[in-house]
Amino acid sequence: GFTPRVFSGIQPTGNLHLGNYLGALKRFADAQNKGIESIYCMVDLHAITVWQDPADLARATRELCAGFIAAGVDPEKSILFNQSQVPEHTQMAWIFNCVARMGWMQRMTQFKDKAGKNAQNASLGLFAYPALMAADILVYHATHVPVGEDQKQHLELTRDIAIKFNHDYGVDFFPITEPVIEGAATRVMSFRDGTKKMSKSDPSDMSRINLTDDADAIAKKIRKAKTDPEPLPDSIEGLEDRPEARNLVNIYAALADLTPEQVIAEHAGQQFGTFKPSLADLAVAKLAPISTEMSRLMQDQGEIDNILRRGSDRARNIATPILQKTYDIAGM
Ligand code: ADP
Ligand code: NA
Repeated sequence: GFTPRVFSGIQPTGNLHLGNYLGALKRFADAQNKGIESIYCMVDLHAITVWQDPADLARATRELCAGFIAAGVDPEKSILFNQSQVPEHTQMAWIFNCVARMGWMQRMTQFKDKAGKNAQNASLGLFAYPALMAADILVYHATHVPVGEDQKQHLELTRDIAIKFNHDYGVDFFPITEPVIEGAATRVMSFRDGTKKMSKSDPSDMSRINLTDDADAIAKKIRKAKTDPEPLPDSIEGLEDRPEARNLVNIYAALADLTPEQVIAEHAGQQFGTFKPSLADLAVAKLAPISTEMSRLMQDQGEIDNILRRGSDRARNIATPILQKTYDIAGM
């Protein structure tokens, strides 16, 4: 058996949003508080698979680190670091590039979404991204990866790579990692379009709550969020085919640590004119302190850099022997 170990990463691409918080950051803090060894990474090597302005990337990396801490991840308990500072990720990724099959990679829907119509002009890195992600996870022998639903397919690929490596070399070396996709808000949707996920790259700032938004911006975005004209139903089944209503109920539930069923029981029959202000109060109470703490932390960038440097030393202590053993297995 493998010792339980949690790994997850977030791209330092700016606009950290409510979906990142409920799908990832909030749950990292919860995992850490259960006492499981946890490793969290700012994945700058993933970010550069699409163009990043260097100054923006450097700033977004520090801001993301501040976001982790403000969301409750304690850098003394968990390991917080920047991917490019631990070269074992790319070394392991090369091995996995040689394990993964072209056909597996071609099935990745995120590549198709991000590359769009002009796939010939996408970077090779964007195509190889999921093999680097497998390396991020397996170079620590991580057993559990808390993520949002959009990462499910990449986690399946990680398992396929571990299985094929173990099989090809006749070893039981890499764990078969479990995706941990749970809670009421594993896929937070855009406030402008209930069929699209809330995303950093949406050009409309009204489509998402940014973790840097102040109380007024949070309340305004919820007030203006797209909804339908019906009141909230008496039971959860009444939310089928009402993606915008379902999204707001899910967000309420995740912020309040309730189930969507409990939220419906409490708010059955309410108009959005009543429900939205309750949601706005809850969101401001939970999120405004995070935004305040992020800007406080951002005033001492030297301290953020120190935290990331210490984190990368701790990460390397785990990754180096696992990479060495991988090389031994492969005869290198
Ligand atoms: P983004 O998708 O916003 O560019 P990342 O790819 O860096 O952000 O994802 C960071 C984490 O946030 C991942 O665990 C991802 O699954 C989660 N996440 C991203 N968007 C959402 C969303 N809309 N709802 C829930 N979780 C999300
Ligand atoms: Na994502």
